[in-house]
Amino acid sequence: MTLEPFRGRSLITWLDYEAPEIRVLLDLSKQVKEESRAAARGTAAMRPQRFAGKTIALLFEKRSTRTRCAFETAFGEEGGHPVFLSTQDIQLGAKESIEDTARVLGRMFSAIQFRGFKQSTVETLARYSGVPVFNGLTDSYHPTQALADIMTLEESFGDSRGKRICFVGDGRNNVARSLMVICAKLGVNFTVICPPSLAPDPALLALCLPLARAAGAALEVTPDLAAVAGAEALYTDVWVSMGEEALREERVALLRAYQVNEALMERTGRADSIFLHCLPAVKGEEVSAAVIDGPRSRAWDEAENRKHTIKAIMLAAINGEA
Ligand code: CP
Repeated sequence: MTLEPFRGRSLITWLDYEAPEIRVLLDLSKQVKEESRAAARGTAAMRPQRFAGKTIALLFEKRSTRTRCAFETAFGEEGGHPVFLSTQDIQLGAKESIEDTARVLGRMFSAIQFRGFKQSTVETLARYSGVPVFNGLTDSYHPTQALADIMTLEESFGDSRGKRICFVGDGRNNVARSLMVICAKLGVNFTVICPPSLAPDPALLALCLPLARAAGAALEVTPDLAAVAGAEALYTDVWVSMGEEALREERVALLRAYQVNEALMERTGRADSIFLHCLPAVKGEEVSAAVIDGPRSRAWDEAENRKHTIKAIMLAAINGEA
């Protein structure tokens, strides 16, 4: 499959991608998942080695299980050499500017992944490195997560267009922001259910509302939990993000009524509604153990799909073919 238009492109936010391009990446994610299953059933020789001779720098300012493992396993199992670099180990932004680190890494690696705090850091890496840069989470966006979320929705309901995801919790969070963008692009109805003080950024809403309208989808924000009625998927994330630990007590008090539990899943009015979570989860806070460990949960498929979607993104941007 030719993916030439993707070659060399970074993934900083889905705002930079058109809906048909995201569709190509979703279809490729499904293909590589099937390939992975076939290889697991057969012999190692059946696994393509499409990253042979390639290298990726994995820069982490923040901890990670899924994102790090998805990049390392997806790249490594196809012959690539991933190099994990925490900011405890390298000079990034401390003894060396981000621009200069980007220039040096771009001379040595085929691509760069960055997980950290500021969106401006991943943007600077993309501007100065000369190689594709993938946003593995910043305080603003988590685009690779959102692609896996839509893939998981489609595994339960077919085409995501016209389906509805309700994000219940802190509407300002990076996962909610990336979901808002990808849903608006793809025509997926998206409702943020949150206390008014944790409502999404009005500037991002103003960007996404016309995109959603053009794609024939609704984008709504409400404090009313009754809005879950009819939704195919309820989604939540931790109430206290990395770096916000001092706010725990206040945040828990504010969000206690917004826990996704069996009673809230029932209020969707659908026997087939599913539960999604980017993980890690705090069971008993944003989600009850009965829901995340129960039959409606797709959180574990969603975690696995991080690997397949990330492989698809890397194949497109690094190889320009699959
Ligand atoms: N969902 C997610 O990004 O998980 P990690 O923090 O473990 O990478």
